[in-house]
Amino acid sequence: MTAETGVELESAIQVPVDLGERSYDVWVGPGVRHCLPEVIPREASRVAVVTQAAVADAGITVDPGIEHRVFITDNGEHIKTLGAVEDLCREFAQWGLTRRDAVVAVGGGAVTDLGGFAAAVYHRGIRVVFVSTTLLGQIDASVGGKTGVNLPEGKNLVGAYWQPTAVLCDTEALDTLPPEEMRSGLGEMAKYHFIADADLDSLNLPERIARCVEIKAEVVAADERESGRRAVLNYGHTLAHALEAHGQYDLRHGEAVAVGLVYAAELAHRAGRIDAHRVAEHRQVVGGYELSTSLPEGADADALVSLFNRDKKAVDGVTFMLDGPEGIQPVTGLESSLLRETLEAIR
Ligand SMILES: NC(=O)c1ccc[n+]([C@@H]2O[C@H](COP(=O)([O-])OP(=O)(O)OC[C@H]3O[C@@H](n4cnc5c(N)ncnc54)[C@H](O)[C@@H]3O)[C@@H](O)[C@H]2O)c1
Ligand SMILES: [Zn+2]
Repeated sequence: MTAETGVELESAIQVPVDLGERSYDVWVGPGVRHCLPEVIPREASRVAVVTQAAVADAGITVDPGIEHRVFITDNGEHIKTLGAVEDLCREFAQWGLTRRDAVVAVGGGAVTDLGGFAAAVYHRGIRVVFVSTTLLGQIDASVGGKTGVNLPEGKNLVGAYWQPTAVLCDTEALDTLPPEEMRSGLGEMAKYHFIADADLDSLNLPERIARCVEIKAEVVAADERESGRRAVLNYGHTLAHALEAHGQYDLRHGEAVAVGLVYAAELAHRAGRIDAHRVAEHRQVVGGYELSTSLPEGADADALVSLFNRDKKAVDGVTFMLDGPEGIQPVTGLESSLLRETLEAIR
C-alpha cells in the first residue's frame, strides 16, 4: 500500500498466469498502478519507465519506489520500430541500467509491445512490469508474453516471447481513454464472450476485465508459443485483418474485430456449424457494446476476399476460426463465393 493513495494490492482482483517458472500475476482494479513498488523485482535498483505522451498528459504516472527515469514515446502504432528499440536500449546503457534492473512499460499495447521487446533484448533480457492503461491492453496486449515491433513489410514481424514479472491493469486509467480506444477494447471483449462460454454479462468492469485476462491466461498457459489452441484468440480476426489491411476504413482494431465476429458467426451458420440463435447471440453481444455489426459503408467485398488470402496467420489457404458444436475451431476450404455472399449479408 502507498501512503498517499491508500490503494492496496490485496483489494485488487488477482489473476495468476500459470507458465511454470515464468508464472506471474495480473492485478486488476482502480488505482492498482499505485502498488507498483510491491511488484518491482527485488534485485532491481533502477527502473526505466517507458510510457507514451497521452498517458503522461492524462496524469497517469507511476512511482516504482526506487531510482527511475521516465522515457516518453509518441502516441500511436508508429513507435513500434527497431529504431525505437535501439534508441531506448542506448539510453538505458548511457544511464547505466544493468541486467538486474527492470523496465516498467506504462501505456497501451503499443508501449507494452515496444517496452516489452526492449526489455527482452537489452542485456539479452531484463525483467519487465506492465502497467496497462487501455482496455485492449488490459484484456489482450499485456497478457501472453508476445512482445515486438513492426517492419515496413508487416506488423509485429520482429519480436520475442518475453513474459512480464507482473501486470497491473489500472481500471482508473480507462477514465481518460478516448471513446474510440474504449470501443476498440470492447470489440476484443466481445470476442471473449464466445471463447470460453464466459458469462460476462453479470460482471462489473474490473471483474469483466479480470475474467477476460483469465480466459486469455488459460489459453496461453495451454499454448505459450502458439502452436494450436492459441489460435482461438484470433476469433473474428480474419475479416478484421482484411479491413485493417485494406486501409480505407476508419476503424480501430477492436471495432474491426466486432464486425469480424458477426461475420464469423454468419459464416459458421452458412457452413452448417451453428444455428440462427447463436448468430443472434453474436449480434446481441456486439450490439450490446454499441459496436457496429455491419461492414463499413462502401466496403469492397472483392478486395476483402482477396485480402483474406494474404492474412499472415493463414498457413494453408484461408483459415477461419469458426464457432461450432465443439467450440471455436479452425476451418479451411471455404469457397470464395460463400465468403463473398456472407460479406453481402452483413452489409
Ligand atoms: N502482445 C500482444 O499479445 C498484443 C495483443 C494485442 C494487441 N497488441 C498490440 O497492441 C497495440 C494496440 O494497443 P492499444 O489499442 O492499447 O493502442 P495504443 O497503445 O496505441 O494506445 C491507443 C492510444 O491511447 C492512448 N492512451 C493509452 N492509454 C491512455 C489513457 N489511459 N488515457 C488516455 N489516452 C491513453 C495512447 O497514447 C494511444 O494514443 C498494437 O500495436 C497491437 O499490435 C499486442
Ligand atoms: Zn485483436
